[in-house]
Amino acid sequence: MKSLVLKNLSKTYFDPYAGSQVTAIRDVSLAVQAGEFVSIVGPSGCGKTTILNMVAGFLPASGGEILVDGKPVSGPGADRGVVFQSFALFPWKTVLDNVAFGPKMRGVGKGERERIAREFLELAGLADAADRYPNELSGGMQQRVGVVRALANHPDVLLMDEPFASVDAQTRMTLQEELTRIWQERRTTVLFITHDVAEAVFLANRVVVLSGGLVKCEIEVPLAHPRRWDALVEDEDFKALSTRVLQQVRAA
Ligand SMILES: Nc1ncnc2c1ncn2[C@@H]1O[C@H](COP(=O)(O)OP(=O)(O)OP(=O)(O)O)[C@@H](O)[C@H]1O
Ligand SMILES: [Mg+2]
Repeated sequence: MKSLVLKNLSKTYFDPYAGSQVTAIRDVSLAVQAGEFVSIVGPSGCGKTTILNMVAGFLPASGGEILVDGKPVSGPGADRGVVFQSFALFPWKTVLDNVAFGPKMRGVGKGERERIAREFLELAGLADAADRYPNELSGGMQQRVGVVRALANHPDVLLMDEPFASVDAQTRMTLQEELTRIWQERRTTVLFITHDVAEAVFLANRVVVLSGGLVKCEIEVPLAHPRRWDALVEDEDFKALSTRVLQQVRAA
């Protein structure tokens, strides 16, 4: 597992309509320890996706620095796995081959990469779907395949941008529980982006509230694992933390 450090990160876009520069990220500093799960929450347009794209190496920063285990990020790399809200599985590949694709690209032999893929599919409750094609799965199942496909690459840092936004509320809760369980087993460093306060608190060790391109505050989430919605909806600490985060987001 690797640490992730953002130092005085900034991003300015050129807005072709206004004919001028817009500042999306002003000055963001954040240290995510190896094995930590950090959520970034904030209103639409506050710069969440911009941060993720810079950390992933898809977008150059205008200023500041991103360090993975102390080394500056200069582009995409296999040390960082990315899961987006809408990601494409390969429609012509089976679920198993989709998950085995990353290991294949890394030169892992057929037997071994299929073993890895089956292990991850098992972990996500998708063992029975291994030989099916993406269009034969529900949206929630496809999303789970997307998550385990990223995990099967053994990324040191997992970057997720609203990966569960387009599934129904029940499926979403299941996916959140599964993600915390998988995280607990694997201890991957995770940066998770969402505008859903309850999701941010449920998943993370720490919630970062972003506002106007700046870190507004950071709130520790000392809730025990494993986390289950049945228990947490009634939990006073969970409710108090969610309220605190919500107040910060609304004041943002
Ligand atoms: N390619 C671009 N060109 C110009 N401006 C952009 C570009 N991408 C983002 N922006 C602007 O940067 C700001 C931050 O956008 P970003 O997508 O990072 O927000 P976000 O927090 O992810 O929002 P959401 O919750 O809606 O996904 C917005 O004002 C947006 O209009
Ligand atoms: Mg976004």
